[in-house]
Amino acid sequence: MKKIPKFETVEVWEGRYHDQSTRWERDDINGALVEWLTSQQLQPGHILIPGCGRAAEPFYLAERGFEVVALDFAPSAIEFQQQKLQTYEKPPTVAFEQVDVMNWHAPAPFDAIYEQTCLCALNPGQRQDYAAQLRDWLKPGGKLFALFMQTYREGGPPFHCAMDDMRQLFGTDKWQWPDDDGLRSDHSNNKVEIGMVLTRRGD
Ligand SMILES: C[S@@+](CC[C@H](N)C(=O)[O-])C[C@H]1O[C@@H](n2cnc3c(N)ncnc32)[C@H](O)[C@@H]1O
Repeated sequence: MKKIPKFETVEVWEGRYHDQSTRWERDDINGALVEWLTSQQLQPGHILIPGCGRAAEPFYLAERGFEVVALDFAPSAIEFQQQKLQTYEKPPTVAFEQVDVMNWHAPAPFDAIYEQTCLCALNPGQRQDYAAQLRDWLKPGGKLFALFMQTYREGGPPFHCAMDDMRQLFGTDKWQWPDDDGLRSDHSNNKVEIGMVLTRRGD
């Protein structure tokens, strides 16, 4: 049986929310997401957000006409989001599911996925399986709006998502990469992400 490193467990993530040890959280909406919306690279449709935590992005997208499904296995993150949803007089189209992204199956493929700090939260040994999940969840031609965490250090989470490693993980036989260098997204905790829009190839 595969040994699960301690930091990967739902108990550890739940403990972080419980202890308010959540330095990854943003006070604002990720600048890369705002840019993708402004440039209309990301247009309303059926979108998935894996490892959503307590982030505001699921609501930001739902309020702009997206049909959002957001996943997390930490109970208090999902409860937080459900409570926020209940504060709306007219709730936006967002559904939260408390599931493990490593074994969740999409009832129907999505037009887009917004990947904000879920990949970097996983053990690098899980990356191949997670990349296969991302592909399975998307329609052919669907877009992966990925924020690749750059820590330039060993260990994690967050684990460094070196761009060379990402190009191997999301190989060009399965994904089309843009010609540009992506967007740089800074976090107040001094972490930097590279935003890239990959298109799922094949059928
Ligand atoms: C670094 S946090 C990021 C949360 C959110 N995306 C944000 O930007 O605030 C990583 C999140 O992924 C969740 N997570 C980690 N592994 C998971 C798994 N296997 N299945 C579902 N959620 C997972 C954790 O509970 C946590 O909420």
